[in-house]
Amino acid sequence: MKRTHYAGSLRKEHADEQVVLQGWVNRSRNNGGIIFIVLRDREGLVQVVVEPDSAAFIIAESLKAEYVIEVEGMVKLRPESMHNTNQASGAVEVVAQTITILSEAKTPPFLVDGTIDGDTVNEDLRLSYRYLDLRRPDAARPLLMRHKISKAIWDFLDKDGFIQIETPLLTLSTPEGARDFVVPSRLQAGNFYALPQSPQLFKQMLMMAGFDRYFQIARCFRDEDLRADRQPDFTQLDIEMSFIDQEDILSLNERLMAHVVKTALDITIDSSFPRMSYDEAMNRYGSDKPDIRFGLELQDLTPLFQNSEFRGFSTTISSGGFVKGIQVPADLANQISRKGLDALEAHAKTHGAKALAWLKHTGELTGPIAKFLSDSEKTNVLALMAEGDTLILVADSWKKTCEALGAVRLKLSADLNLVSNEQLAFLWVIDFPLLELNPETESYTYMHHPFTRPHDEDLGKLETSPGEVRAWAYDLVLNGNEVGGGSLRIFRHDTQLKMFDALGFSREQAQERFGFFLDALSYGAPPHGGIAWGLDRLVMLLAKTRSIRDVIAFPKNQRGIEPLTGAPNKLEPKQLAELHLKIESED
Ligand code: AMO
Repeated sequence: MKRTHYAGSLRKEHADEQVVLQGWVNRSRNNGGIIFIVLRDREGLVQVVVEPDSAAFIIAESLKAEYVIEVEGMVKLRPESMHNTNQASGAVEVVAQTITILSEAKTPPFLVDGTIDGDTVNEDLRLSYRYLDLRRPDAARPLLMRHKISKAIWDFLDKDGFIQIETPLLTLSTPEGARDFVVPSRLQAGNFYALPQSPQLFKQMLMMAGFDRYFQIARCFRDEDLRADRQPDFTQLDIEMSFIDQEDILSLNERLMAHVVKTALDITIDSSFPRMSYDEAMNRYGSDKPDIRFGLELQDLTPLFQNSEFRGFSTTISSGGFVKGIQVPADLANQISRKGLDALEAHAKTHGAKALAWLKHTGELTGPIAKFLSDSEKTNVLALMAEGDTLILVADSWKKTCEALGAVRLKLSADLNLVSNEQLAFLWVIDFPLLELNPETESYTYMHHPFTRPHDEDLGKLETSPGEVRAWAYDLVLNGNEVGGGSLRIFRHDTQLKMFDALGFSREQAQERFGFFLDALSYGAPPHGGIAWGLDRLVMLLAKTRSIRDVIAFPKNQRGIEPLTGAPNKLEPKQLAELHLKIESED
């Protein structure tokens, strides 16, 4: 290869070396006879200087942004006062002897400048020309980190005896709670494959096949509403192990994560993460993926308002509900205006609360609901607070109260700038309930998926009080984001049938959908369990990007469109006919 160095990798120690660089013209300017070219490649930028008497001068004059060039020249140390501290290579420049144009370029639809923030350009436009967008080192950086992370995962798991196995993409529906993407079959008229929401059933069957320790960096597909941390096709690190208990899986993942963080960021983290039960996470933080980097924990104030004269509280409590609050200390409360409190109420309402109340300690107790409280209630509330504090209150069912205040807590942290992204706060949430009551259908549904193992002691409750059955399930949380989730699995045929019963599947339905899997369970299945990390999400957090789209080479936009290719698109009538499909309406 003719290139001797990456432009962005040149440093002081390369001074006086003869180099050949190949890359793109980031910018070029003629400064009174001397031409300065900023050359860009995947590692960054370097300044190239072309003197008027250089043989390269005539070509340098003709260069435009995004031309691909080859530069041969000598690395020179810049005088200290002229170091460009914004550029890693800023202590040096390359004095060009020859320049060759390898490829010309049209004027790009937006400025592809490695020194400016890509966020100044409309995202859809950037994604339509993603190959230009990714020329910016800032845009390429998360993909380079992603590569490092994947390699760290492979190295670590291979050393630990894990075997990488691929599972099919054209398959049957797997119940992970989202809609399936489906692919029509040409050969089997009227039949559809589903793209996997995860490799869940296959990895379990690999355990039944005896592989014992499996992993895969697997593509998964879920047709669900898109958010800043969701994509319709995304990547999981999928792991499954046999003959293990929960502790084995948690500790393996802690060690693996510590290795990944060390490789990606050169930071050593404590490889024993705090653990918190689902109940505690909900009660203290109002979330099953708590951000523990800041306080403002929820308090249960139900006993205080048991016999409240404020009907809004007492009727909620007498019908089994709760009154919970967040006590905002004076220094923070001072930063929240009346309008800010209204915004918090609106936020709580979008997260399910009927209303949000507040009380302020201003020497006495003030706030819109203060007049409804008895003197003794006021005294009791004041006793909890210091002067200047504001107490934010929600009364509703346990879950709604927790979730609404959990959302308010996060808004407070964002509004008041309470957390630093430099901090990495990992945590396990464990002891999830197995099932959750859907208030609309009044039936129970799984919290993770239907293959999660119940605690043995709770098996009897599957029929009598399904909501109380605990699951061997765990979620891995980083800075308030769910970066992974897994469980020990049901490995007995009879338990799996009981689980399907509890979910309201008839034996026929269970047989029809999961007959192949029930069969597999009946030929000797080892005790097993596993986990899946959201790899994109993890890279997003470690690379500190704002959106999951920044860590994916060719992501979909918020409307599920991939702007570069324009996918999805219409099929030709001939293709439709081959697939035995008719489009009824195009709206
Ligand atoms: P789960 O559904 O929790 O578990 O998914 C595992 C992790 O995948 C990430 N994730 C997503 N990332 C981006 N876009 C999405 N649409 C998306 N959906 C999920 C999350 C999540 O924690 N089969 C089980 C795992 C197991 O039990 O082993 C599963 O898929 O970070």
